[in-house]
Amino acid sequence: MPEVIIQKATMENLKDIQELNHMLFEKEHEEYDKLLNCNWTLSKEGEEYYKGRISKDDECAFIAVEGKKVIGYLVGSLTEGEDYRNLPKVAELDNTFVLKEYRKLGVGTKLHQEFIKWCKSKKVEIIKVQATAQNDKAINFYRKNGFKDYTRVLEHKLE
Ligand SMILES: CC(C)(COP(=O)(O)OP(=O)(O)OC[C@H]1O[C@@H](n2cnc3c(N)ncnc32)[C@H](O)[C@@H]1OP(=O)(O)O)[C@@H](O)C(=O)NCCC(=O)NCCS
Repeated sequence: MPEVIIQKATMENLKDIQELNHMLFEKEHEEYDKLLNCNWTLSKEGEEYYKGRISKDDECAFIAVEGKKVIGYLVGSLTEGEDYRNLPKVAELDNTFVLKEYRKLGVGTKLHQEFIKWCKSKKVEIIKVQATAQNDKAINFYRKNGFKDYTRVLEHKLE
């Protein structure tokens, strides 16, 4: 395992996080979803989204750093659960990505553990995450980190 440190992201890391998220979009677009808008991350809207995750109290952003290189990130936020359930406080792991050459070395798990600490500090009791249904590796990763299937969203593309 390389010497990887997990840090809370600052505005100095904004571009790095956006770049990593852009790679995630390109990967998902290539492999699973041609409807994904790969320009979103680097748009004004995408920039505002990540600025919020970095700076707002109810949102969080973590980076994994090796030396001076940002090799992965995770962002999350407090969220409203379904109002027809009796839910305690809920947070969402919004998106996470580790550079290919650093995967399967425990970096994603370290980022996730930091997110859990943040959630606990906010008195969160349930964390949710959404993943593309075909992304078995990510789903495996989430299951390994304690998530269990709750709902399954199905889509029907009409001809
Ligand atoms: C998902 C991701 C963030 C996980 O990060 P990571 O650093 O590779 O994860 P870890 O090394 O901590 O893996 C922990 C566990 O997850 C599972 N896992 C991770 N990568 C896997 C892979 N490629 N295939 C199968 N299982 C995998 C394994 O069970 C692993 O446990 P093990 O090491 O005991 O086998 C990373 O693989 C990634 O960036 N993938 C591409 C982007 C993506 O799909 N992001 C999620 C969509 S929001």
